[in-house]
Amino acid sequence: MRVVVTGGAGFIGSHLCDAFHANGDEVWVIDDLSSGRANRLHEGVRLYRESVRNASRLCELVTDIQPELICHLAAQVDVRESVASPGKDAEANVLGTINVLEAARAVGARMVFSSTGGAIYGQDAPVPSSESTFPAPGSPYGVAKYCSEQYVGLYNRLFGSEHAVLRFSNVYGPRQGSFGEAGVVSVFCANSIQGKPITIFGDGKQTRDYVYVADCVAAFMAAADYGKAGIWNIGTGTEVGVLELAELVNRFARSDSQLVFAPARAGELTRSALACELAAQDLGWQPATSLADGVQAVVRWFEAGAPDRTSL
Ligand SMILES: NC(=O)c1ccc[n+]([C@@H]2O[C@H](COP(=O)([O-])OP(=O)(O)OC[C@H]3O[C@@H](n4cnc5c(N)ncnc54)[C@H](O)[C@@H]3O)[C@@H](O)[C@H]2O)c1
Repeated sequence: MRVVVTGGAGFIGSHLCDAFHANGDEVWVIDDLSSGRANRLHEGVRLYRESVRNASRLCELVTDIQPELICHLAAQVDVRESVASPGKDAEANVLGTINVLEAARAVGARMVFSSTGGAIYGQDAPVPSSESTFPAPGSPYGVAKYCSEQYVGLYNRLFGSEHAVLRFSNVYGPRQGSFGEAGVVSVFCANSIQGKPITIFGDGKQTRDYVYVADCVAAFMAAADYGKAGIWNIGTGTEVGVLELAELVNRFARSDSQLVFAPARAGELTRSALACELAAQDLGWQPATSLADGVQAVVRWFEAGAPDRTSL
């Protein structure tokens, strides 16, 4: 299969490229390298440094490549940045997605879109949240992802495509940057193995659903194989407290890093977890990696110097 991965030089995207390449698929990456790194890519994967905001160039590239599948992961992923610059966020995350949909339409490719769960369902959603929860995003990032999902559905209705949406919970694993809120496992691991304090915002009782990156890659592969449209939550359904996570990290890093409490951050979700029965039923997908195993893999990765290329 010929596959394009937008945002393929990023944390999740680069692991996805490895999986397609290992399958014998031909893989092209379109990434502006704003946060991604070319060194994460296997030498057999071809990289075009381009922004998904550039509609005409994107369409040219995709028309040259003629992929059957486009996995769309390129995005502005920083929630706080989206609050600071909502217009810029929408340019990358909404217009970028429309441009990818148009490029896919030009060549008849199917798209699998990387969306988000917690940021879409919002503060008052039942936990764990199912796909039928009415969305009430709490940030421009969440609105942009939800808006993009609406375009994906619209293209399916207008043009008969079978594009799919995966709503991820908090993804973690080797190659994730140790900055920003999406990388809390990485931030904690990086600090813990150096014996630096771990900062916890609020009382540490806020919960998240942490899903290992290899399980996300498996979800993309399952959605690609399934071939039909749909929206699926991809998480574990399990709530883990931030304080509990910090203690787990210290245990596996054999560290006694001090836990330091800082004021809660405005707008932060209190609880979040995704119900994933639909993905099990339709895609035959279930998370296979326990939090203990996943955190140990991240600790080992940092201990090895956080290399760009690493197997899962
Ligand atoms: N990490 C998570 O916990 C999580 C959770 C839910 C959804 N997601 C989604 O998964 C996708 C991948 O996230 P990630 O954690 O790997 O982030 P990441 O920042 O590591 O990867 C994003 C990639 O997109 C590239 N990019 C950004 N803007 C671009 C543009 N305009 N044109 C082309 N490339 C661009 C970056 O250079 C980077 O390589 C994103 O769409 C994100 O919203 C991630």
